[in-house]
Amino acid sequence: MRKKIIKNARYINEGAILEGDIEIVGDRISKVGGIIEGVAEEIDASGMVVIPGIIDDQVHFREPGLTHKGNIATESRAALAGGVTSFMEMPNTKPPALTQTALQEKYDIAARTAYTNYSFFMGASNDNLEEVLKTDETTVCGIKAFMGSSTGNMLVDDPVTLEGLFSQVPMLIATHCEDEATIRNNKAIFAEKYGDTLSAIHHPMIRSEEGCYISSSYARDLAAKHGTRLHILHITTEKELALFRNDIPLEEKKITSEACVHHLYFSQEDYPQLGNKIICNPAIKKPSDRAAIFEAVLDGRIDIIATDHAPHTIEEKSKPYAQAPSGLPLIQHTLNIMLSYYHSGKISLEHIVQKMCHDPARCFKLAERGYLREGYYADLTLVDLEEEWTIATDNILYKCGWSPLEGRTMKGKVKETIINGRTCYRDGGFFIQGGGQRLHFHTSH
Ligand code: DOR
Repeated sequence: MRKKIIKNARYINEGAILEGDIEIVGDRISKVGGIIEGVAEEIDASGMVVIPGIIDDQVHFREPGLTHKGNIATESRAALAGGVTSFMEMPNTKPPALTQTALQEKYDIAARTAYTNYSFFMGASNDNLEEVLKTDETTVCGIKAFMGSSTGNMLVDDPVTLEGLFSQVPMLIATHCEDEATIRNNKAIFAEKYGDTLSAIHHPMIRSEEGCYISSSYARDLAAKHGTRLHILHITTEKELALFRNDIPLEEKKITSEACVHHLYFSQEDYPQLGNKIICNPAIKKPSDRAAIFEAVLDGRIDIIATDHAPHTIEEKSKPYAQAPSGLPLIQHTLNIMLSYYHSGKISLEHIVQKMCHDPARCFKLAERGYLREGYYADLTLVDLEEEWTIATDNILYKCGWSPLEGRTMKGKVKETIINGRTCYRDGGFFIQGGGQRLHFHTSH
C-alpha cells in the first residue's frame, strides 16, 4: 500500500501545536507524532504547519445548469488550492436538487469531476416533503431550506410546510434565514425613495437586521418545538447571537450556527469601494455586527466558519444594483482571510483549525474526517504561514475569474493539499482530479 511520511511537521490538532512526523498508509493516517522512520515517500514539512483539511459546509458550485458561473471541477479545484478538502454544496442549481433524481445527478457529476471530497444538500421547497423524507442521512449532509429567497427560486415560506419539515425530517436541516415579507417591504420603500440611484450601499438596509432576526428566531422556535436538528447558516447580525448557546458541547447542541468569512472580513464601510462585488444574502452589515460575530466565533455561540462561495460572472455583477446577483467567490482564499486575523493577533491557529476543520466534522457528524487522528482519512493541508502573495487575475482559479480580494497581499500560503492520502495539489502548479470521495455521516442527531 502507498505510504507517505510527512517529516518535521509542526501540526495543529485538537487545541495544540505539536512537533513530529505524520505517517499515511493508503487513504488513512496511520501514525501521528514522534520520529517515524521507514521506507516511504517523504514530504519535508520544515517551516510549515500541517492542519487537517478544511471542511466547508456551504458552497455553490453551480452545476448543473449555471455552469457559465462555475462548475464542480473548476470550483473544487480552487478549493483544493485553498486547502479545502471537503465541501457540502447547496441545492440552488438548475434544475434545483428538489428530487432524489436531481440530487443523484450532482453526486454522479462529482464522482467524475470533483477534486475534493464532496456532499450535496437535498433541497426543500413548499411542496416536496415526501421527496425530502427519502433522503439518506448517512450519505447526504443535510436538507437545505431557503427561509428567505436568494439566488434561485427556492423559497420555503409556507408555515404548514415548515411545520411539516421541522417535525418530520430526522436529519440536519440547514436554513438560510431572512424574512421575505420584511425584505419585500424594504425593497419597495427603497426603490420608491432612491429609484435609479439605488445601490449596493442600500443592500444591508433592504436585507436588514430585522429581516434576519425574524426569520432566525422563527427557525429556532420551530426547532425547539419539534426537537429538530437545526443549523442556521451565515449569521450576520449581533442581534441573532442571542439565539445560540455556548454552555454545552457541540455534540449536545440541537441548534448550531455558522459564520462566513466575508461577514467576518468586510463591513458596510466596504460598499463604496467594492459595490456589487460584495452584495450577498444575507448582507454584509455594520462593523459592530462583524465584531460581534467574530466574538461569537471565539466564544462558541457560533460553531463553524464557512464561505458560502457563490460565484457570478463579472458581467452579471456589473449590472445596476437592482439586477446584480448576490454572492461572491471565496473558497480559494478562505484560510487566507482567517490567517489575516491570526497575524493580527485576533485568533489563534488552534482556534482556526477548531472552527474550520474539527467543528464542521462534529457539527455534521462526519465520519472519520476533520482531525489528525490515527485511523482517520488522510485529508491534510500544509501551509507556509509567512509567505506573502498578492491575489491577482493570474492566480485566481475560479471559473468567474475575479475575487473581491483582488490586489490584496496575503500572508500565508497553502503549499500542499493531501486528500485521502494522495497529494492532489502542490505549490500552485500540480493538481490531481478524482482523489475525493463522497462524505459519510453518522446518524445519531
Ligand atoms: O448571496 C448569496 N448568494 N446568498 C445565497 O444564499 C445564495 C448565493 C448564490 O447562490 O448566489
